[in-house]
Amino acid sequence: MSAVTPFRLGVLGSGRGSNFVAIADAIAAGKIPAEISLVLSDVETAGILVEARSRQLAARYIAPGKFRTRLEDGIEQEYVATLRDAGANFIVLAGFMRVLKDPFLRAFPDRIVNIHPSLLPAFPGLAAWQQALDYGVKITGCTVHFVTAGVDTGAIIGQQSVAVLDTDTAATLHARIQAAEHELYPRCLAALARDEITRIGRRVVPRTSSVN
Ligand code: GAR
Repeated sequence: MSAVTPFRLGVLGSGRGSNFVAIADAIAAGKIPAEISLVLSDVETAGILVEARSRQLAARYIAPGKFRTRLEDGIEQEYVATLRDAGANFIVLAGFMRVLKDPFLRAFPDRIVNIHPSLLPAFPGLAAWQQALDYGVKITGCTVHFVTAGVDTGAIIGQQSVAVLDTDTAATLHARIQAAEHELYPRCLAALARDEITRIGRRVVPRTSSVN
């Protein structure tokens, strides 16, 4: 029997919410031992809020304040308080397009994860699929990683590769990367929620393996 506190997820997103849907469906199918406490968005019209409400899940918009790439300080506190009040103990970033700072990171130490549409450390930042096309790589993919103060720099939990085709446009490549994300994110969350993996320095490994 596991002594792990059950995962109660706070999911943050700014967009369509397709990763959220994949995660919610995996939970409903019994593939991730977790529940979703709250879905939060910085975009009032975001599809992720619509998807959450259609599943009768708590969903809230909190205006992000005056900055474009991060939350205003007092508002970041409000995000933390709202997540805590909802009972969330593990934070899943699913297309949340703002960088998190303290106090958010300190409020959920080692318990914030993100999905990024490239094989990190290649192509951090915005529109990673476009960056991959422009660079001319033949293989890209997606990465689930722990969130730290740097942009897309935290320890890597899992990756899935996607071939870049000669005929690809930004739209077709992004669509295939997203299909890979919808497999990878639920799989990584299941491993975390079942306490099957652990972080040793930057390396995230199965609990049974011996990494020196
Ligand atoms: C996903 O492709 C995710 O990798 C990306 O936003 C998309 C959200 O889609 N995130 C980033 O680029 C973060 N740097 P979704 O709303 O359909 O899940």
